[in-house]
Amino acid sequence: MVPRFLRPVTHLAPHWVRRAALGALEDIKSLPARAMDAERRAEPWSVLHHVGHGGYLATGRYLAGLLETYAGFDGTQNVLDIGCGTGRAAAGLDARLAAGGGHYLGFDVSASAIGYCRRRFAGEPHLSFAHLDIRHEDYNPRGSQEELQAVFPCADEDFDIALAASVFTHLTMPAVRRYLAETAMALVPGGRFVFTAFALEPGRDSSPKFPFQPFDETSMTVDPQAPLGAIGHRRAGLEAAIREAGFASFAFHRGAWAPGADYAGGQDLYVAVRA
Ligand SMILES: C[S@@+](CC[C@H](N)C(=O)[O-])C[C@H]1O[C@@H](n2cnc3c(N)ncnc32)[C@H](O)[C@@H]1O
Repeated sequence: MVPRFLRPVTHLAPHWVRRAALGALEDIKSLPARAMDAERRAEPWSVLHHVGHGGYLATGRYLAGLLETYAGFDGTQNVLDIGCGTGRAAAGLDARLAAGGGHYLGFDVSASAIGYCRRRFAGEPHLSFAHLDIRHEDYNPRGSQEELQAVFPCADEDFDIALAASVFTHLTMPAVRRYLAETAMALVPGGRFVFTAFALEPGRDSSPKFPFQPFDETSMTVDPQAPLGAIGHRRAGLEAAIREAGFASFAFHRGAWAPGADYAGGQDLYVAVRA
């Protein structure tokens, strides 16, 4: 997210330039840690593809932990990573999948992120990556397909677990509905979908760090001039969409982006179980 004081300047640039500039800023901030710590030196540069704050491997371990805690991941399951970015979750899941015999597929709209994943995880047959050329104003502005027509690059009922970490925070509500339906199709019956979102509720629809403003009747954004930089959706609408997509039940956990957190993550967390 662009700091408020920089927005008058950054709004002159196309969205993807703004995102790359934010990535470059992250890279500069990471230099002291990279100098001291070999683990941090092994991280991709954020200017290539900016997926947010947090160390690459540390976030990977955190995401793997989420799947262990909320989806029973033990290395034997097949895992679909929607909007995998530069493969932080793949890095966290890698060793357990190699030992357990499970398979992982990550896909993303960013060709450079998928190129990076393929290079980083070359020689790991249990990890595969696919590029989906869907248009996104920040991440893939020249994409050839619309998100509302997105078809996931996998067969039906191929996966036990799906993950979308910090992806629905960059999609409009109609796109979220499409992605929920595609995810339900990709999961086996009883499969679990772990995803994060900003689930806006009366009295919890803004915070000092995420000062959401009206966007449309279903959603709010931090920055109306770059609405997909950080977008939240009304909790009631999200939960109706989860049920309509074919999930039988779900659990909800509030993240620390606003007061009232009841788990360790920043964004709100859903764990939906495919009917
Ligand atoms: C904040 S990053 C999170 C990346 C990754 N999940 C992680 O936690 O490291 C959001 C990711 O969603 C991807 N993305 C955006 N729109 C998408 C879409 N319609 N389909 C798939 N991925 C998308 C972006 O390219 C980006 O990699």
